[in-house]
Amino acid sequence: MLGNGQASPHRGRPDNTVYERGEPGNMMNFFKPMEWAFGHMSVDMGIDLGTANTLVCVKGRGIILNEPSVVAVKSGTKEILLDGMAVGNTAKAMLGKTPGGIEAVRPLKHGVIADFDVTEKMLRYFITKVHEGRHWVKPQVVIAVPVGITPVERRAVIHSAERAGARRVYLIDEPMAAGIGCEMPVTEARGSLVVDIGGGTTEIAVLSLAGAVVSTSLRVAGDDMDEAIVSHVRRHHNLLIGEQSAEKLKLNIGSAWPMKQELSMEVGGRDAVSGLPRKAAVTSLEIREALAHPVRLICEAIRGVLEEAPPEISADLYDAGVTMVGGGGLLYGLPEALGDHLGLQVRVGDEPLSAVARGTGIFLDKLDVFSKVLAAEEFD
Ligand SMILES: Nc1ncnc2c1ncn2[C@@H]1O[C@H](COP(=O)(O)OP(=O)(O)OP(=O)(O)O)[C@@H](O)[C@H]1O
Ligand SMILES: [Mg+2]
Repeated sequence: MLGNGQASPHRGRPDNTVYERGEPGNMMNFFKPMEWAFGHMSVDMGIDLGTANTLVCVKGRGIILNEPSVVAVKSGTKEILLDGMAVGNTAKAMLGKTPGGIEAVRPLKHGVIADFDVTEKMLRYFITKVHEGRHWVKPQVVIAVPVGITPVERRAVIHSAERAGARRVYLIDEPMAAGIGCEMPVTEARGSLVVDIGGGTTEIAVLSLAGAVVSTSLRVAGDDMDEAIVSHVRRHHNLLIGEQSAEKLKLNIGSAWPMKQELSMEVGGRDAVSGLPRKAAVTSLEIREALAHPVRLICEAIRGVLEEAPPEISADLYDAGVTMVGGGGLLYGLPEALGDHLGLQVRVGDEPLSAVARGTGIFLDKLDVFSKVLAAEEFD
C-alpha cells in the first residue's frame, strides 16, 4: 500500500515515540542541500489530528488552525461538499441536521482513522489552508497519534499525510507531545504522569528520559460522556436528544464533583413516545450521575498505570502529581474527583486543548535534538 514506505522492523532501538517517513536514504544525501533551500519556502507544521478537533501549529507562528475534525460529504460518496468549504466549523454545525443526500462525517473514531479517504481530504484541506498557496514546496509534518495504535493504523496516518501533500512525516505519541507542550521535564530521569482526555481516547502515560515508562490508551473520553448523557435523558425524560445537545449539557452544567451551586438547563429533542418536538429541564446533579460511569473508568485506568510504575517513579509522581490535558480535562470538578480517587495532586495543564499541538510545534522547532533523543525511526 505504501510502496517504498513499508514500515521496516524496529532495529534494536529503545521504545520509540517518533517515526520518520522519508525518501530512500542514499538519495536523501544527494537532495539534502536542495531540501535545506526548499525548507525556507515551505511551512513545516505540527498537527494534532484529534477525534474531535484538529489543530495545526506552524513553526515560528504558533497555532494557526483549530477546527472540528468533521467533513460534510455527498451521501454514499467521499466527495466533499461546496468545493471543500464544508470542513471543520461549517461541517460541525451540520452534524445531526443534514438533509438526505448530505452526510456530516467524523472521519476519526477513538483517535484513529475510521475513514481513510475522508481523513486524507480533510488533512489536505487543512494543510492547503495553512500553506495559503504562497509556498510551493511540500511541508515536513509532525503528527501526534494515540499510544495504542497499531502499525497498520500508524501507516494509515503517514500515508494520509503524504497523500495530503506532506514531504516528510514524523509521528509522535500524544502524551509525549502533551508533556513537551506543557513544559514537563520529559527528557529528565524523573517520572511525570500525563493524562490526555480527548473526544475519542484517554491517553495515560508515565514519562521519563524521553520515553513512556508505562502507558495505556483507553477508548473512553468526551464522546462517551456525551453518549452517557443522551441515554440518561432518554431513560429519565423520555426525550431523544442529539449528540451536539448532549455536548452542550456537558459543557454548561456537566461536572464530576459537587458544584458550589447546582444548575439546570433546558434541552430540546424528540419525545420518545409521541415523536413530537419537546423540551425538558435537566439538572447538573443528573448529568453528574450520567457521567459517573465514564469518569470511574478513567480513574481506574489511571490507577492501573500507577500500579505498574516502578517504585522510584512512584516516589516522583507522589511529589509531581498528575497533569491533565485535552478537552475532557476541563470537565468541572474532574481534578477533585481524580485526586480523591488516587490520593494525588491533580492539575489541569495550561491551555489543555492545545497542549498536544504546542508539543508538536516545539518538536519541530527542536527537530535536531528531539528526533535524536526520542529515537526517530526512518522508514525506507
Ligand atoms: N469545558 C469542558 N468540559 C467538559 N468537556 C469538554 C470541555 N471542553 C471541551 N470538552 C470536550 O473535550 C473533547 C475534545 O477534546 P480534544 O479536542 O482534546 O479532543 P481530541 O484531541 O480531538 O480527541 P482525541 O485526543 O481523543 O483524538 C470533546 O468531547 C469536548 O466535548
Ligand atoms: Mg487529543
